[in-house]
Amino acid sequence: MIWYRLYTVIALYLGLVSSALVPRAFPGLNTTILRRVRNNAVNISTHSWEIGTLAEALTEAEWPALSPFMPGLIFPPTRLPWWENAYDVLAIAEMIIDQKANGTLTLTDGQGAVGDPASLGQAVLLRNWTRVDLTDTRFSTAAGEQLGYLLSQAPRAASGAISHRESEVQLWSDFVYMAPPFIAYFGALQNDVGGHALLQIAYDQIRLYRDALFDADASLWRHITLGSWEDTGHWATGNAWAAAGMMRVLTIIRRSNFASQMESQQDNLAQWVNEILTGMWRYQQDNGTLLNYVDQPDSFADSSSTALLAATTLRYSLFTDDGKHDIAAFQALELVFRSIDEDGWLHNTVNPLWFSERSPDGSHSPEGQSFVLLLAAAWAAF
Ligand SMILES: *[C@@H]1O[C@H](CO)[C@@H](O)[C@H](O)[C@H]1NC(C)=O
Ligand SMILES: *[C@@H]1O[C@H](CO)[C@@H](O)[C@H](O)[C@H]1NC(C)=O
Ligand SMILES: *[C@@H]1O[C@H](CO)[C@@H](O)[C@H](O)[C@H]1NC(C)=O
Ligand SMILES: *[C@@H]1O[C@H](CO)[C@@H](O)[C@H](O)[C@H]1NC(C)=O
Ligand SMILES: *[C@@H]1O[C@H](CO)[C@@H](O)[C@H](O)[C@H]1NC(C)=O
Repeated sequence: MIWYRLYTVIALYLGLVSSALVPRAFPGLNTTILRRVRNNAVNISTHSWEIGTLAEALTEAEWPALSPFMPGLIFPPTRLPWWENAYDVLAIAEMIIDQKANGTLTLTDGQGAVGDPASLGQAVLLRNWTRVDLTDTRFSTAAGEQLGYLLSQAPRAASGAISHRESEVQLWSDFVYMAPPFIAYFGALQNDVGGHALLQIAYDQIRLYRDALFDADASLWRHITLGSWEDTGHWATGNAWAAAGMMRVLTIIRRSNFASQMESQQDNLAQWVNEILTGMWRYQQDNGTLLNYVDQPDSFADSSSTALLAATTLRYSLFTDDGKHDIAAFQALELVFRSIDEDGWLHNTVNPLWFSERSPDGSHSPEGQSFVLLLAAAWAAF
């Protein structure tokens, strides 16, 4: 954060970037604390999806010109300028590729999850695209293998939906943030007939997941369906993952060269984000929080999903000019920032490893830390 701010100040002085990139201060959170949130997120993220989400959060918070939520075409510069060098995001991609086991197709060990390692794919694609050594094909090859795994090796439901689990066909709302944004980004960068097809596949996977998980009566997604057990509750983080993943795919399509051929897909994605925001904020508590199972009054308050949904709401509002959920998002933002202590830890989170329980005393949520960064980035752009 401090580097980003320093670079921004210098770049502004040199007239190189627009003032829209300067993060605004918000009530209750100063940049010292935000930097601690960031360092804690870096320090405790260990699982594939946590590191993938962290890479996205660092990109949006520190290197916003490289995030999918900017105007203009999606292609990053082929050489990154020194003030937008994304050193920490690219370091994640390098670590992943250095540690990649020989003979495996996925970017890292998903511990049984099909979708999760793909969340690292956007950082790997960025590392490839901006590499200095043009003979270095490791990142491109690894991204291609990860894509191939998703499209032709992973188990699928009868509908064609790619399973979120390896051992059996099972669909989790979490998948929508993990895999479709990678598939879409891959396609947008390929920028040819095959790339167009990948954008459509990213959209189709979301459509198939929604067919399986959307509960129209509640305007909410169930968490898990098919396989040997289900979670039919309206898990708050699952709804936020789905909305956030759809928002990413929507903006990637809009910024691709195929946007004008994919108008109806964009309209649907915006509507599908909106229906989750509508269903979720209806259950916002007086103090701004969401409950872990959002419509179950005896469920506990969860600041983590509250942060991701608020970030997604601000992105939705910026993208569509539909501000009807803004007030809910601001109340949530205030609650989230009140839930962060002096040391930069977010409190009152769900346990990311067991979704029906609170984080145990003294432990913190890696994804929750990253969601705060996503929220800070969305607010800075607002
Ligand atoms: C930000 O918070 C830190 C830690 O509490 C404090 O030391 C510092 O004075 C605060 N800075 C501003 C500008 O409020
Ligand atoms: C990361 O955590 C270790 C202890 O587990 C601590 O010593 C170190 O200072 C932390 N690093 C940062 C950047 O917060
Ligand atoms: C993969 O194989 C190459 C060459 O055979 C070797 O240098 C590298 O250390 C291996 N990587 C891992 C993670 O085992
Ligand atoms: C890697 O980057 C090169 C441009 O340097 C590009 O041609 C190639 O398609 C990229 N690979 C992937 C998988 O995006
Ligand atoms: C917010 O309200 C909920 C009940 O609606 C409560 O469980 C939670 O502790 C409150 N959170 C804070 C930070 O006050």
